[in-house]
This record gives sequence, C-alpha cells and structure tokens, in this order.
Amino acid sequence: MDRTFLIDTDTASDDAVALIMALRTSDVRVAAITVVAGNVPLPQAVRNALFTVELCGDDTPVHAGAARPLRRSLQSAEFFHGEDGLGDQGYPPPRAQPASEDAIEAILRASREHPGLTVVTLGPLTNIALALDRDPSFAENIGRLVIMGGAPLTVGNMTPAAEFNLWVDPEAAAAVIDAGMPTELVGWELCRGEAILSHDEMSRVKAFDTEIAHFSIDCNETAVEANFRQSGARGLGLPDPVAMAVALRPDIVRRGSRHHVMIETGSELTRGMTVVDQLGVCGEPQNRATWGDRADREAWTRVTWEIDVSSFKQLLFSILRAG
Ligand code: RIB
Ligand code: CA
Repeated sequence: MDRTFLIDTDTASDDAVALIMALRTSDVRVAAITVVAGNVPLPQAVRNALFTVELCGDDTPVHAGAARPLRRSLQSAEFFHGEDGLGDQGYPPPRAQPASEDAIEAILRASREHPGLTVVTLGPLTNIALALDRDPSFAENIGRLVIMGGAPLTVGNMTPAAEFNLWVDPEAAAAVIDAGMPTELVGWELCRGEAILSHDEMSRVKAFDTEIAHFSIDCNETAVEANFRQSGARGLGLPDPVAMAVALRPDIVRRGSRHHVMIETGSELTRGMTVVDQLGVCGEPQNRATWGDRADREAWTRVTWEIDVSSFKQLLFSILRAG
C-alpha cells in the first residue's frame, strides 16, 4: 500500500540525498516538498529542492515557506555545505518554478487530503510550527512525524549542547515537540561513527556511475571537508538520509523509547538543547497533545537511540545504484 509523505527541508547537500531516497522509493508518494530557511537562505534552498526534483525526473511540487525562524534571525550553514548549499559544484539553475501556494498552506492541505500523512522534517521546524499555529487541528491528521534533529543526551554540532536544526529555531522546535504528534526524533549522533560513509564507500558509490550517485557524492564535497574540521572524522556524515531511512524503513531503528522531551529556548548557552526525561523524573506525560482528551490518539515522542547502520547503507546504496 502506497505511503504518502510530505518532506520539509532546508535543502542543502545531505537534504538533497534524502529527497532522492524518498523520490526514488516506489511505494512512497511525496505529496509535496516544503522549504524552510536553514542551511542556506530560503531562495537558495528552494532552488536546490527544485534542482534535486528535476534530477530525479520528478514533478513533485516545491513550496516556499519561512525565510527566517519564528523569533530569531537566520543563522545559516554555508560554512558546512558551501555557499550554494550543494558543495559549490556550479549546478545549473532548475527549469521549474516553485508552486504558487505557500508551504504552510501546502502542509495543511496535504494533512487534510492524506489523513495519516507521514511528515519528514530535515531542517528547522519553523514551517511546521507555523502550520500548527494557523490550524492546530493539523496535528490530528499526522500519522508519523519524523524529525531529523536534536542531540539527545549527547553533544551537539552547533554548540556543545545543540544540533543545528533545533538550534536555529528552538521556539519552533519546542512548539512542535509540545504538540504531541506521533513524533520520532532522529538525532545528529546517529549519522556519526559507523554510519559515516568512508572514502572507500564514497568511491564505491561513484562507481555506480549513475547521475544521482555522482551528484550525491559530489554535492557533499564541502561537507566531507567540514566534517573533518568539525569533528576530526574522515568521510561523509549524512544526517538527513539517516532520518529519511527511518521514515522509509522503521525497522532500521534498533533501539528507541518514548519520553517527555523538552527543547531549551531560554538559555543562550543551551539554546535548542534536546532535554530528554529518560527517567521520567518530571512526572510529565510524554508531551502534551493539542487535541485535548481524545483517547484514541496517543501523544508521544520516541527518541531513536540506535539504528542498524548496515541496513541504512544498504538502502542508500541500492537507491543510488539503481539511478
Ligand atoms: O544538524 C544536521 C542538520 O542540519 C541536517 O539536517 C543538515 O542538513 C542541517 O539542516
Ligand atoms: Ca537539513
């Protein structure tokens, strides 16, 4: 049975690979791609999403969303993904234009038209928070919310405490986590260690010699260099593809558990920190639901602690090899 996804993205190089994974999965229908400012400013993120969709020979609509966080100025990440977000490879401009409907309306319409919708977020949560603000009942139609974000009980990549997506717009992240949708958190730490693509594995992908294989490695050229500068790790970390793999193949999660999760918004030192009440000491339910006391829906946030790295890489390589 086909599954319907909506993907919200700040389209830089790892986002692009995650988009390819979804667009190239035969039993997934991507109803819309909505774009948010994050890695790069909104116009560039929209251009990158359109380029990636065209590279896949697809016509999934791309909708422009928030150009800045709810309350803060945009802090982008060209230092990591390159000035254009795609490794400054000089890719041509896309032929298509973004859809006229804005991202927030597209999110709300998709949730109405596709009850049980899977929403996968790959960037700051500004668009999702704005959708909740415009129509809180949106939360009731979401079957799965898979968030690439956070660094639960571990080090962040933007500050010692926080991961980029949640750090950029912590107020949006807090609003989304508090909405109590069936949320699966896929933190940055899961793309590190064994999950990193080694240089040999990157060469192996290039040897597939498909256009999307070459693109997936080439557009991440600056990310490889940045990864080494940032953490001393050699190879390519792919946080968004890890989150997309969890969305596509939930069985990739080896260990996950439901907890009350809070996002720091008050302190500049720990802004965007993913605070997980692992021992239940707060005595809180696992994140409040916005739909009142409807007993038929459970509100929860499941934190992903471990994935099956081999299955993640097999899935990614099979998609890139198929072209
Ligand atoms: O911290 C990693 C996340 O921030 C990824 O989604 C990457 O694309 C950036 O958006
Ligand atoms: Ca991203």
